[in-house]
Amino acid sequence: MTSTALRRWIIIAASLVLPLAAVAQQSQFEFDLKRVDDALRNNPTHALRQSLESCLNQRNHAVALYRMGMHDRAQRALKYCFVSLYLPENVEAPKPISTEELRERSDKEYKKALALKPDIANGLEIYRMCAACHEPEGWGRKTGSVPQIAGQHRNVVIHQLTDFRAGNRESAVMAPYADPEALGGAQAVADVAGYISTLEMTVDVGHGDGKNLALGEKLYKENCADCHGDSGEGDNEGLAPRLQAQHYKYLLRQFEAIRSGKRLNANKRMAKQITGFTDEEVEAVLDYTSRLEPPEMLQAAEGWRNPDFARPSP
Ligand code: HEC
Ligand code: HEC
Repeated sequence: MTSTALRRWIIIAASLVLPLAAVAQQSQFEFDLKRVDDALRNNPTHALRQSLESCLNQRNHAVALYRMGMHDRAQRALKYCFVSLYLPENVEAPKPISTEELRERSDKEYKKALALKPDIANGLEIYRMCAACHEPEGWGRKTGSVPQIAGQHRNVVIHQLTDFRAGNRESAVMAPYADPEALGGAQAVADVAGYISTLEMTVDVGHGDGKNLALGEKLYKENCADCHGDSGEGDNEGLAPRLQAQHYKYLLRQFEAIRSGKRLNANKRMAKQITGFTDEEVEAVLDYTSRLEPPEMLQAAEGWRNPDFARPSP
């Protein structure tokens, strides 16, 4: 087998993958597997072809064992690769990072970005990348896949960005764009947040079926208004997002993510407050919430299109 053929074979065979947990919860086995896969791909020690082939067999055997729950045997099978590829053994997986540490990391950058003076022109240049999903107007998508960020409080925008960057909020779609490599440092965060704060909102966000609005209003006033404000205006200082004119389907998705504990940065008091909600109550309160409108001065004029983005007229 030629080395390119072997390489192709490795890439195909390595598709026997584990659904790798987030780095924060990586097990020793997952860590070792990643080291072996990197070595199979790049062969940094110039191991012989036969060694690569037999390591690959052992590696796939180890993954199969691991999936069957035989973790010790899996670990031993993987050891074979360390020997045959001359890789150091007994390298310890990095310690899992606690949520407190993630939060601290985010808070530190948040404070830094908050204190910087935004350069709006540079913010626009950065925002061009964001517009691919959030749309030039910052209105997001009615399908709920992408939130409206126009009109969101500056502090909330900055805080959500530093949370994504610190790994304190997960999103396979959004996180790569918040990453310093794509976005830049704290100044870039301040700049793009500054630009976003110039955008006005749409209220065309979709709603529920409208059947339970009285129940929704009652639930909202009793459970949400305290933090998100009487009319969903949010709280810049308290970092509670503006919920006014957020897409109904996005509200549903985030509400569930917060309730189920999937959203790492979820406010603990909020998560506790909503644990007992039935599906009917969730729909009612969010249907009501999605109809809360921002003050007119925050709403874009009818037919407005962001002039910073040249587009052929429809
Ligand atoms: C590939 C699509 C995509 C791109 C590009 C993108 N985003 Fe996002 N963004 C998302 C999605 C999806 C979410 C919601 C994540 C979730 O489901 O939890 C989001 C969430 C956010 C939020 C949190 C909003 C909230 O209400 O919680 C902010 C702030 C944000 N994005 C800002 C930005 C900025 C600034 C950029 C450019 C630097 C950007 N996004 C680029 C898809 C994208
Ligand atoms: C104790 C204060 C508190 C209460 C009570 C509360 N929230 Fe929240 N909520 C927050 C905070 C703070 C966040 C932002 C969390 C973070 O840092 O990501 C949030 C986030 C959200 C989000 C995600 C918004 C976004 O843009 O991503 C939704 C949706 C939401 N809350 C809806 C509700 C609803 C509906 C209720 C009532 C049933 C409620 N909240 C009650 C504090 C609260």
